[in-house]
Amino acid sequence: MINSQAVVLGIETSCDETAVGIVRGRNLLANVISSSVDEHARFGGVVPEIASRAHLEAMPGVIAQALVDAKLKISDIDAFAVTAGPGLIGALLVGTSSASGLALALGKPLYGVNHLSAHIAVDTLESDQKLQPTIALLVSGGHSSILQVNDLTNDVVTLGSTIDDAAGEAFDKIARILELSFPGGPAIDKAAQSGNPTAIDFPRGLSLNKDLAAHKYDFSFSGLKTSVARYLQASPKFIRADVAASFQEAVVDVLLTKAISAATETGIDRLVIAGGVAANSRLRELAEQRAAKAGIALRIPPMALCTDNGAMVAALGALAVQGGISPSGLGFGANSSSGIDRPIF
Ligand code: KG4
Ligand code: ZN
Repeated sequence: MINSQAVVLGIETSCDETAVGIVRGRNLLANVISSSVDEHARFGGVVPEIASRAHLEAMPGVIAQALVDAKLKISDIDAFAVTAGPGLIGALLVGTSSASGLALALGKPLYGVNHLSAHIAVDTLESDQKLQPTIALLVSGGHSSILQVNDLTNDVVTLGSTIDDAAGEAFDKIARILELSFPGGPAIDKAAQSGNPTAIDFPRGLSLNKDLAAHKYDFSFSGLKTSVARYLQASPKFIRADVAASFQEAVVDVLLTKAISAATETGIDRLVIAGGVAANSRLRELAEQRAAKAGIALRIPPMALCTDNGAMVAALGALAVQGGISPSGLGFGANSSSGIDRPIF
């Protein structure tokens, strides 16, 4: 089936969002999300068993609502796509079992897709722009990398990645020590609005000349985390908004410095920023400024499509259909630590 207007239903359950999106070609028809985030908040992080149970409970209702929103019946779906990794294994299995059951019962093709690739694929929705080749800055709760995307479904080269914490993880950890709510990214983003980003000069990891030789496009956020913790210990009367804004500035500055230089140095004058951290307001603002200055065409998906959702999974499924890629077939399995080198299972 090679159909540029195929209707694809995508299921995402890799972490704490039970999400279903439906697309027709590049058009978004439905995007329904049920989050178990409130059930995890008191633990300060996602509890895998709670997430899996919440997915099981939410799945039927989320699929039904997506079909209502898209004004479709389940028999109208041409193909199914589901996140097969990376993510929490129990949570992934709820999604892959649900999708396999539907595809088998309805006799429709099924694509197991990579969550990281899907974050980038969402950029193709509601757009007639060419996606690739592009440099991608992929920044989520579990991953931070700079990629050269020649073909999202089968040729992605990793130029650099984090050597310790992911960017989103750094936001979550610093929010915790600042006693802000979970997840930390949105909480720091909000607290920083009233803070001074130049109040404290926090370090930009792997940015010194001696580090650049071996780690030009790599990130490190552990030194920054230690530096914030030390600052808080040494300054009992610290201003929370200033710490949040200065920390956020340090992360955003280093992410963009490296992503823009990757675009400039490879001669690929296109940059897409994807993943949960791409919802950050300061990252979005500074990216616009720096990309314009460097003559790079910048794309960042709408904020609601940056954090985990089903539309991104459906979008990657649609690209697979359009590319004539063979469906995954039943029994493709889930892989909790899958890398972006395996976009379609
Ligand atoms: O992509 P995502 O929804 O899930 C993963 O695949 O990991 O990313 C979640 C991460 C969390 O660490 C969260 O704190 C961060 O994205 N995040 C943000 C913002 N919104 C979500 N980080 C900074 N600023 C935000 N506005
Ligand atoms: Zn994600």
